[in-house]
Amino acid sequence: RTVYVNGEYLPEERATISIFDRGFLFADGVYEVTSVLDGKLIDFAGHAKRLERSLGELEISAPCSVDDLLEIHRRLVAENDITDGLVYLQITRGAADRDFAYPTDATPTLVLFTQSKPGLADSPAARTGIKVISIEDQRWGRRDIKTVQLLYPSMGKMMAKAAGADDAWMVEDGAVTEGTSNNAYIVKGNTIVTRQLGTEILHGITRAAVLRFAREAQMRVEERPFTIDEAKAADEAFITSASSFVMPVVEMDGAPIGTGKPGAVATRLREIYLEESR
Ligand code: PDD
Repeated sequence: RTVYVNGEYLPEERATISIFDRGFLFADGVYEVTSVLDGKLIDFAGHAKRLERSLGELEISAPCSVDDLLEIHRRLVAENDITDGLVYLQITRGAADRDFAYPTDATPTLVLFTQSKPGLADSPAARTGIKVISIEDQRWGRRDIKTVQLLYPSMGKMMAKAAGADDAWMVEDGAVTEGTSNNAYIVKGNTIVTRQLGTEILHGITRAAVLRFAREAQMRVEERPFTIDEAKAADEAFITSASSFVMPVVEMDGAPIGTGKPGAVATRLREIYLEESR
């Protein structure tokens, strides 16, 4: 596999970064994951825009232009023959002598790699739905910045696996924030409910597209906090992310949601999303 590191395209075995990189020492960096379907990048512009915002919030300078980033994405997809899969991009503040105060003049580190995921759009999980558990949200308070501090979400995913589930929905002050690496939704009657944007959740690029498609299809959308009890009493539930698109959720803390099968709204939104964004 060819990867990209600071201006160079290299075989992955030859790619290196400094042990003093602040991404490694302080999780001082941000990332994006863009999906690829039929060799085409899905919503690159949305991901590039969020990346710029994440960098701005952390005062990390952009290593190159958005056009350059698009070119790197396209070249890696082509060189690695990615039909369906993902492009991962990470920018850290760069290498500096270890100090909590960060340097204002560090040279940012830019790393990209691809992951091939054949059949990404027709994953069997979309037909059966996934199971989630609820856990406390113990992340820091700026979840709107897509940082590489992913330890708590990793632990959440492990807690889910230990409980025989696929993922965890995180709860803060009695309300669901989001999944470990996705945005969370419930459906009651003909209303889709998902938490409003703020610092408590990541502003999903898939979320923005799916809510737009839902409204265009005359579905009712309420952006507000909801509880785990509401989720358990919902008719259906689902998650969205660049890697899962729209994925039905059929079980919460061991109890079925609705019929325990993927719901009509989630199934329809998945179809619309895949149709419209390809
Ligand atoms: N995760 N919320 C969190 C905490 C996330 O990590 C993600 C994405 C999302 C969905 O955002 P988007 O629709 O832009 O992918 C919501 C990526 C896929 C990951 O970490 O692999």
